[in-house]
Amino acid sequence: LSGLFQAKKLENRHVLISAGPTIERIDPVRYLTNDSSGKMGIALAEAARDAGALVTLVHGPIRGTLPSGITTIDVESGDEMLEMMLTHYDQQDLVIMAAAVADYRPTVTYDRKQKKIDGPLRIELEETTDILRTLGERKTTQVLVGFAAETENLEHHAQQKLIRKQADFIVANDVSRADIGFSSDENQVTVYGKDETVTPYAQQSKTTLAQNLIKQFAEALR
Ligand code: CTP
Ligand code: CA
Repeated sequence: LSGLFQAKKLENRHVLISAGPTIERIDPVRYLTNDSSGKMGIALAEAARDAGALVTLVHGPIRGTLPSGITTIDVESGDEMLEMMLTHYDQQDLVIMAAAVADYRPTVTYDRKQKKIDGPLRIELEETTDILRTLGERKTTQVLVGFAAETENLEHHAQQKLIRKQADFIVANDVSRADIGFSSDENQVTVYGKDETVTPYAQQSKTTLAQNLIKQFAEALR
């Protein structure tokens, strides 16, 4: 194990992480979502736990078993995730938005399963609240980390998100690469810091990457 985990560098620190997709309901049996597996967020939660932190994981619907030794909170929609993140936000030292929050939701959610209609169905969508940006606006002493999934101009878009969302770090990955990212066990990222640092990481397992990222963020804590 690396020194971070032997030294329990996050002992007595509070770490809040979001993971997985969110879902936005059309009716009781239909919804909008995305392909996020939640693996990166789970790996980060495990790495923080192993470094001695008290970890809270707010997650959308994800397959498989969740890590032991942490607090897990199960949510569906972006609004539910926002509420849970805000509930736990103030006491945190490190907050990581690894969730793939659905960008849009139907303007109307029906209480009953909708019947087929004649002709094309139109569903109007509105933007969901930007959770990371909301957390950025309310930031006091927390180190705040976001992700950026990009298919082009990685650096430019990541830097824009860093500023717009008032994050301390943005972990940027190129989702146009089929071999890494969403459902893969490996990932390759570059971390952009508010302090103008640019830290590229070689392609590696999400487990190892999570340990390296947690180490970098732990060093930024006061
Ligand atoms: N995010 C969020 N709330 C949203 C959308 C995104 O908190 N409603 C967070 C994600 O968890 C991630 C960061 O913002 O940490 C960037 O997400 P991303 O999808 O890359 O960027 P968007 O701002 O949604 O812009 P776009 O999808 O157009 O690139
Ligand atoms: Ca998005």
